Formats: sequence, C-alpha cells, structure tokens
Amino acid sequence: MLPRNRKGIVNPRITTFDEFRDAISAYRLPRVLLAALELDLFTTVGDRSWTVADLSKELKVSERGLGILCRNLAAAGVLQKKGPIYKNSRLGATALNGNHRTYRGGYLNLIRTHWADWVRLLESVRSGLPIDHDIPDGPDYRRQFTWAMHHRTREIAPAIAAQVRLGRARTLLDLGGGPGTYAMAFLEKHPTLRATVCDREAALGVAKEIAGTHRAGRRLSYLPLDFSKEPIPGIYDVIWYSNVLHIYSPEDNQAIFRRAFSALAPSGRLIIQDAFLHDREGLHPAEASLFAVSMLLFTEGGNTYSVSETATWLKAAGFMGVKILPIKEETEDWEDGILEASAPGRRPKAIVRRTQPKGS
Ligand SMILES: C[S@@+](CC[C@H](N)C(=O)[O-])C[C@H]1O[C@@H](n2cnc3c(N)ncnc32)[C@H](O)[C@@H]1O
Repeated sequence: MLPRNRKGIVNPRITTFDEFRDAISAYRLPRVLLAALELDLFTTVGDRSWTVADLSKELKVSERGLGILCRNLAAAGVLQKKGPIYKNSRLGATALNGNHRTYRGGYLNLIRTHWADWVRLLESVRSGLPIDHDIPDGPDYRRQFTWAMHHRTREIAPAIAAQVRLGRARTLLDLGGGPGTYAMAFLEKHPTLRATVCDREAALGVAKEIAGTHRAGRRLSYLPLDFSKEPIPGIYDVIWYSNVLHIYSPEDNQAIFRRAFSALAPSGRLIIQDAFLHDREGLHPAEASLFAVSMLLFTEGGNTYSVSETATWLKAAGFMGVKILPIKEETEDWEDGILEASAPGRRPKAIVRRTQPKGS
C-alpha cells in the first residue's frame, strides 16, 4: 500500500516504469481543468443547461474540441452530464463561477499562471535563481497576489483562529499578513483583541478594503514595513507569522526571528504557520517538498524547512518552549503546520541591566 498523509493524499512513490509513466501523465487532467479556467467556462455555464453546440458558439470554440473537453470535465465531476446536456456541478456553479459571491478568482488566476512558470523549472534548477529574477515585484502584482492569498485562505482562517488559543493576549501582529485574512479571523473570534497587519504598502491597500467590509475591521491597524531589513516597531503579545517562513533563506529567517523576539512582550508568543517537513530526512509531507519547488521558481532564497531546524533558529533567537499546536484534520492549512514559541517571562536585557554595577 502507498504511504498516505493524514489527509489521505498518497505520497507518490515510484518504483516501476508504469508508475513513473502514470506520474508523468498526471498532467493531463490538470491541463483539461486549466483549459476550462482559461475559457472561463464555469462562469459561462452559470446556472443554465447547455448542449455542446450552444456552449461552443457562446465560447467561440470548436464543437469537437469543446465536446471532448466537457466530457472530461464531467468525468472529473466538475460538470454534470445528462444525455446531450451539460450543467455546472455545485463547485463549478460557486467557487469557479465569476458571477457567484464565493468565487475564488484571485487564487484561481494565480494557480493558472503557475503552469507556464513550472514549465520553466529547469531554468531555475540551472541558475538557482527565480525564473523572473530580473522583473521587479510591482504594486499591481502585489495587489493581485494579495487578493489571491485572501481567496486561498478565506475559509481556512476562521477554522484556524477558532483553534489557536490566544489566552489573555490583547495585541496581535499579523507579520506578512497580506490581506489580513488571519488578523480579521482572530479579531472576529476575540472581541477585545486589537491587531496590526504588517506588509508592503500595496498589500495593505487590499487589507484595508477587506477590513472595511467587517465590523471587527475597526480594531485592525496597518504597518507598512520591510521586516527583512528593518526592525519591527511596537510590542505585541502575539506575532502570527503565516506562510512567510518559506519565502526566506535560513539566514534571513534567523534575522527575522530576532526582530520578532524584540517586538514581543514578556511571555509573548510567536506562532508560525508553514509547510513544515516532519521526517528525519526532510522529505515529507510530499506536499511540503513540492512547495519548495515553487520557492525555487519564485524566491531568491526560499525553501521549506523541518520543524527541528526551525526550532533551532527559534532557540538561537531567544525563544523557549517550541511546540507544534494541534489542529483538527481537514481544518489545517498544512499538515502539523503550526509551531508556537514563547519569549521568556523576564527579558534577558532586563536581567543584564540589573546585574550591571551602578553608574556603568
Ligand atoms: C504568502 S503571503 C502570506 C499571507 C498571509 N500571511 C497568509 O498566510 O495567507 C506572504 C506575505 O508576506 C509579505 N512579505 C514577505 N516578505 C515581506 C517583507 N520583507 N516585508 C513585508 N511583507 C513581506 C508578502 O507581501 C505577502 O503578503
């Protein structure tokens, strides 16, 4: 039997030629799904029933091509077929449909562009650099990416916020919080909490738009900052650091941990969510290893990291009591993906000062 992770996803193990061929041929269904997204097919289908002939006229594509595409979409379950008639599945009619309020277009667009990026993988393997290292990250891209993060996380964040205990924390910093989806989820769960989302200016613009649609958004403030270069101003009870660790190299992460440590109140906590590797060899979960490929394609020094190496960096920065927080299966972002570390109750600096001779 093939090894499965806790979500039941098979960790691919290829031992025979047939398994190798099947693993490579797995691009076929993704390509069919992406072609449907590129046509914005689910939006056009909407809540109507269609023959292939009518739909092909509406989408301005060949009837033959669309017939084969729709048959495969129905076989995969994202369309429904009855005789000659096609309709949207529930998923197609909602999250994939641009006219539905739960549309996750920002995230779908990001996933869609990844196909062309992954085709260029060998460029990054050769150079060790991101594929578009010569193109600066402008505000338009940052806005689009930030919406994508919101559409990715909108449903996960409240479930996570319900399980991460904040204790008596009164202030939370969502460091690299992008759209502030997590900050907002924590604010909604804790009516007296105040939160700050720290990110780049363009990302904070999106966070402000989203916060404007929530009552709890009044308790959110905004900190534009490049925390990979500058100290983090302010003192917080909790710093939530979600899906940022993998963007940076080990050295950068260690420097960021030191900055986070300085911005925490005594006994404050740094809570990190990321695609951690859990086995001794640093291979699994397979999803976390595959995610590292994205970091090779898109970042200067990013990677995915094991719990033990992250814990070592945290301890070197002064943190104690590093532990994985339990999150219910099916509600987690990454498998065993939340790590908590605490600052000491009394900060080393204060101890040093008290032991110094008077007048020094
Ligand atoms: C992958 S997104 C994660 C967003 C959110 N925390 C989540 O979990 O959905 C990473 C975010 O970190 C921000 N970020 C990365 N490095 C940063 C830096 N040096 N200064 C400010 N923001 C940064 C990015 O702009 C982006 O919004």
